[in-house]
Amino acid sequence: MRATLAVLLGLGVGAFAQGAATAASKVAAIKTAASQDAVFDILSNDSDFVFDFNTAKPVTGAAGQVIGSNAANFPALTNQGVSITIGRLGEACGMNTPHTHPRATEMLYLVNGSIQTGMLQENGARFVYNEVHANQAQVFTKGSIHYQQNMGCDPILFVAALSNEDPGVSSIAQRFFGLPPAFVAASLGDVGVEEVVGLEAAIPDNIALGTDECLKKCGITRGQQPTTQRQPRVAGNALPSNSSGSSN
Ligand SMILES: *[C@@H]1O[C@H](CO)[C@@H](O)[C@H](O)[C@H]1NC(C)=O
Ligand SMILES: *[C@@H]1O[C@H](CO)[C@@H](O)[C@H](O)[C@H]1NC(C)=O
Repeated sequence: MRATLAVLLGLGVGAFAQGAATAASKVAAIKTAASQDAVFDILSNDSDFVFDFNTAKPVTGAAGQVIGSNAANFPALTNQGVSITIGRLGEACGMNTPHTHPRATEMLYLVNGSIQTGMLQENGARFVYNEVHANQAQVFTKGSIHYQQNMGCDPILFVAALSNEDPGVSSIAQRFFGLPPAFVAASLGDVGVEEVVGLEAAIPDNIALGTDECLKKCGITRGQQPTTQRQPRVAGNALPSNSSGSSN
């Protein structure tokens, strides 16, 4: 691990790796600090307590972006049990695609515009649908599959508080279709492996363009969207060797 890091730095992959290493060492130091006083010595600069969403690295798709704070990019959150993610959906019709947070409950506050949301808790729970308007908030229970879509033609902004400093995100389509294709095909019933490979290759990055109904209303054509967030292939989940599907 240390050797890998040295190689990375040696190659001059530089600032990002170095920043990540600094953050990781701060998190480690905070976790083993004897007292909260000592934590304040580790977070020695007052600005260590400020997170800047303007300069943080976003996750970007064709129809918007999400920017998340967590202990890894904001060590001051370590042991605090909270974090914030902001989302910009659109220009128009942006959709925060179905996902779960394995370690956090979410409370999402909508700054402006209106969104449609859906939530599914575990097997047996009913589907929950809502329209949420500016200055309203919705809770998304821990582990639930949920999504939000901007139903308007102007961009919207949300602020989501999460009950963990390392909430995690599991994007449903990318993760499910990242399983071995034969098992995905079998679990879908009468669907061929080639069909699965074709669907997988087209899964758009988050934030993706939303429903046909919204796109039509706003006069948008669903063109090619980036597909870089698909699950990487290793031997165990490899595409069939004769497959026409492209790997990412
Ligand atoms: C504290 O952080 C600010 C902003 O990152 C930086 O400009 C300043 O130089 C830092 N101060 C010290 C003493 O490291
Ligand atoms: C929400 O606010 C952003 C910027 O603050 C603005 O660009 C956008 O048009 C607003 N959207 C609505 C629906 O008011």
